[in-house]
Amino acid sequence: MRFMPRVAAPHVVNIADLRRAAQRRLPRAVFDYIDGGADQEITLRENVRVFDDVIFRPRCAVATASCDLRTTVLGTPIDLPFILAPVGSSRMFYPRGEEVAARAAGNAGTIYTLSTLSGCLVSDVKRATRGPVWYQLYLVGGRDVALTSIERARNCGCAALVVTIDTPVAGLRERDVRNGVKELVSGAPFTRLPYVFQFLARPRWLAAFLRDGGLMRFPNIVLKDGPMPYADVGAALEQSMVSWADLKWIREAWGGPIVVKGVHIGDDGRRAIDYGADAVVVSNHGGRQLDGVSSTLRALPEVVAAVDGRIEVLLDSGIRRGSDIVKAISLGARAVLVGRAYAYGLGAAGEAGVTRAIELLRADVIRTMKLLGVDSVARLDPSLVEVPRDWPFTVASRQTADAF
Ligand SMILES: Cc1cc2nc3c(=O)[nH]c(=O)nc-3n(C[C@H](O)[C@H](O)[C@H](O)COP(=O)(O)O)c2cc1C
Repeated sequence: MRFMPRVAAPHVVNIADLRRAAQRRLPRAVFDYIDGGADQEITLRENVRVFDDVIFRPRCAVATASCDLRTTVLGTPIDLPFILAPVGSSRMFYPRGEEVAARAAGNAGTIYTLSTLSGCLVSDVKRATRGPVWYQLYLVGGRDVALTSIERARNCGCAALVVTIDTPVAGLRERDVRNGVKELVSGAPFTRLPYVFQFLARPRWLAAFLRDGGLMRFPNIVLKDGPMPYADVGAALEQSMVSWADLKWIREAWGGPIVVKGVHIGDDGRRAIDYGADAVVVSNHGGRQLDGVSSTLRALPEVVAAVDGRIEVLLDSGIRRGSDIVKAISLGARAVLVGRAYAYGLGAAGEAGVTRAIELLRADVIRTMKLLGVDSVARLDPSLVEVPRDWPFTVASRQTADAF
């Protein structure tokens, strides 16, 4: 029998436990790739901490026998108010990682978003799940290469294209530099040597990784001489920035719903509408790009006010508990995306770990809503939370709260 960390209670009762389980199974370079953020990791920490600043205002003695978590995003019905975010290189965390995570999402009734920088082919991922799949696009390799992947995503039935706009260059994740990620993926054997011991220290992960084919290529980025090698990712990202003009081109090439991911301020929310977005994600890439930007929860009310109901607003970055999800939806998010919360589960125990992450978040959301006296996500609104008075955008919250 294969060794697999136990992900049920009492070993794993929250996402932080899954994080520790992932740390035990993965080599340091892989764990830090998931866990780390840019530069001083200020935004990474703040994304999580900021949820402590938002205070619930429950309605007590309200019967909530059942809680309806169903919602729709861009017209697609989902059973949970959260979606799995695009997480590149998931195949490094667990064999066939993207397919495994997509299957767990589909079984739970939600959407899986596949990164351009994934180790599994989009059509294989689509086949692996009974749920909807979104495809996240980077313009790696230029428009011709992107066009091929857009067509592939459309042909296999992806429901929306997620265009990430916060990555004109890859953020500097200092942990990756220290762990020798560059040397490991592209160096000569002797430059790799000082760093390979971290893999030998995790023989079970290493055996699974090698069985799955070892260092992967990116099968959804087909360049002139075949799928893009892992070593080329940093340079490729620098040449793949998406501008608003590109967005117009992408809109025409895709012809379906577009989600713009990486909006930090109201103006960009409005601009996304002008350029044809159907939804935006208030996201700072989980604190992996520009360090020092606002946490997304604090930025959310400004974007919600700016788009003024014309398109759907989603949020990600920092979600570690169901109560975080309830706070974000109360402040105007249609739904949220979770990144590390499920990536830890995948790294800890594959499908069982992702399923456990989803279960934990789902149970948290239900319990939080019952304690708040709310029986449906459709009824979450700003009157249920109090936000700090020094936030730049608190108006909607205070006005509704004052009405009670
Ligand atoms: C390991 C890792 C890889 C990621 N890869 C991508 C990617 O390829 N494309 C993208 O748009 N976002 C990527 N993201 C960002 C996530 O989609 C999401 O915005 C972020 O994880 C949300 O923050 P959270 O991890 O705190 O939930 C990645 C995040 C992580 C942790």
